[in-house]
Amino acid sequence: MKGWIRSIMGLSRNDACWCGSGKKYKKCHADFDERLSEIKFRRDLGQMRPPRKIINNKEDIRKIKESAVINDAVLDLMAEMIKPGIDTVSLDDAAKNYIESHGAIPACLNFEGFPKNICVSVNDVVCHGIPSKNTILKEGDIVNVDVTTNLNGYFADASRMYIVGGKTTPEAQRLVDTTKEIMEVGIAAIRPWGWVGDIGAACKKRTKEAGYSVVTALGGHGVGKAFHLEPYVAHYADKNTGMLLVPGMVLTVEPMINQGDYHVDVDKKDGWTVRTHDGSLSAQWEKTVLITETGTEILAK
Ligand code: MF3
Ligand code: CO
Ligand code: CO
Repeated sequence: MKGWIRSIMGLSRNDACWCGSGKKYKKCHADFDERLSEIKFRRDLGQMRPPRKIINNKEDIRKIKESAVINDAVLDLMAEMIKPGIDTVSLDDAAKNYIESHGAIPACLNFEGFPKNICVSVNDVVCHGIPSKNTILKEGDIVNVDVTTNLNGYFADASRMYIVGGKTTPEAQRLVDTTKEIMEVGIAAIRPWGWVGDIGAACKKRTKEAGYSVVTALGGHGVGKAFHLEPYVAHYADKNTGMLLVPGMVLTVEPMINQGDYHVDVDKKDGWTVRTHDGSLSAQWEKTVLITETGTEILAK
């Protein structure tokens, strides 16, 4: 497109770029917009153009990374603390303390009324487990700790699995290890100028091969300038569907994988705890991932 056509669209080549970088448009997102304008979005595949507000500039990315440093350290701390006999409020207290003493906010606290600082999900709990004095970890339990940090308005979100006492059954161990692999193949499927459905297609394939099922009721999400942003990241999807993935987008890949079938229930009393319907084990791993010009960069792990 010629410069004069752009200027009637609102931005000329010497104006400041819309991404907030402070650079001239022509030196920043002009080529990006050119490429975007050439893409034909297929409505039958649910293909969508990413909104500008979810595209992060260098400064945004630097701030998400600072938040992620704290978030990663909390998950490292959990590895040291998780032992048979510890209750999950002790984990919650330690996480809150670490995050606040580093000048940040535990993003889960009061999020849509969530009562604690982190989610701790044990065995058949799929996600959103509420830390409790009454939940005492025992040898062989498989535990997900999910932490989200808000530092100066920038969010980093990640979760890991921990095996209490370091040893569990071969079946539980395989679920934990395979779920990590499923997250990794999901991330490996990300291509700049590819599609969000590519992630779910890769997760779905690997899950089927392993004989497990993917939870479809919840998924990943854009993250960065808010806790949950577009796009929704399904872990069970088809290639070439959904939102276009472009450099500067930040999202989570966080598959929840069940040993049994994919159905889940939300606890009627607390309104949060998600459990497998059939009582089988469930595992989850989550990372915050940046889409770059050439591939991906892990921001929070
Ligand atoms: N951290 C979770 C996620 O991965 C969300 C937890 S919301 C809460 O998106 F309220 F349960 F904390
Ligand atoms: Co999370
Ligand atoms: Co998340």
